[in-house]
Amino acid sequence: MADVITIALSKGRIFKETLPLLKVAGIEPLDDPETSRKLILDTTRDDVKIVIIRATDVPVYVQYGAADMGVTGKDVLVEHGGEGLYELLDLHIANCKLMVAGLKNQPLPATGVIKVATKFVNCAKHYFSAQGRQVEIIKLYGSMELAPIVGLADCIVDVVDTGSTLEANGLEPMEHMFDVSSRMIVNEASMKMRNATIRSLLKHIESALQKPCN
Ligand code: ATP
Ligand code: PRP
Repeated sequence: MADVITIALSKGRIFKETLPLLKVAGIEPLDDPETSRKLILDTTRDDVKIVIIRATDVPVYVQYGAADMGVTGKDVLVEHGGEGLYELLDLHIANCKLMVAGLKNQPLPATGVIKVATKFVNCAKHYFSAQGRQVEIIKLYGSMELAPIVGLADCIVDVVDTGSTLEANGLEPMEHMFDVSSRMIVNEASMKMRNATIRSLLKHIESALQKPCN
């Protein structure tokens, strides 16, 4: 019986955009997580399974070895801290930016405490404290754009791609924190124990990334 590698993916854009990359390594899931209730998907390779979890949980599963590998946004990875895992490849998918945003034409207070609503608590704390700016962080789990509108916060820290969600809610981008794309991460122990399989898989994915259309 072959040693099985488990890859953690989240539903939605990461799953969809990772599929063509896995395909070059002969890995195709036998079920579609959008229609199936299964959380562990068998694939066309006996030695690879895919687990479907929340995007923010991917580094946690990989850190603890519950999954050998995973695909996660750089935003989620920085927020997690990266303990116990290697970041091996930039997949250049799910590209966006982590930004500070707030109500149009309402600059942030230059002095005093800035109220920041976000699910990226660690990223926000680190960003503002590095600039010596005092913040009160309000942890939210979604719909961050609402917070400044209803007076819950002065600004938000969230991912921005086209800017249309900000625009639709009367907000504007204010400060660029860092660029985000999805990364292939690997558990440190798995990298040692299953080195040959993981390296061969990464090689296939790297070659797919070099092709103009994938
Ligand atoms: P969770 O379910 O854990 O709250 P989520 O809803 O943020 O996570 P997704 O929306 O699937 O999960 O986002 C997954 C990743 O895709 C994010 O971590 C980010 O790196 C990237 N991403 C998020 N929004 C966009 C966007 N609008 N355009 C491009 N990439 C994005
Ligand atoms: C993300 C993010 C923003 C939006 C930004 O939400 O939370 O709201 O994308 O993208 P834009 O700049 O192109 O408008 P997503 O679409 O993933 O929905 P979600 O709230 O379900 O995560």
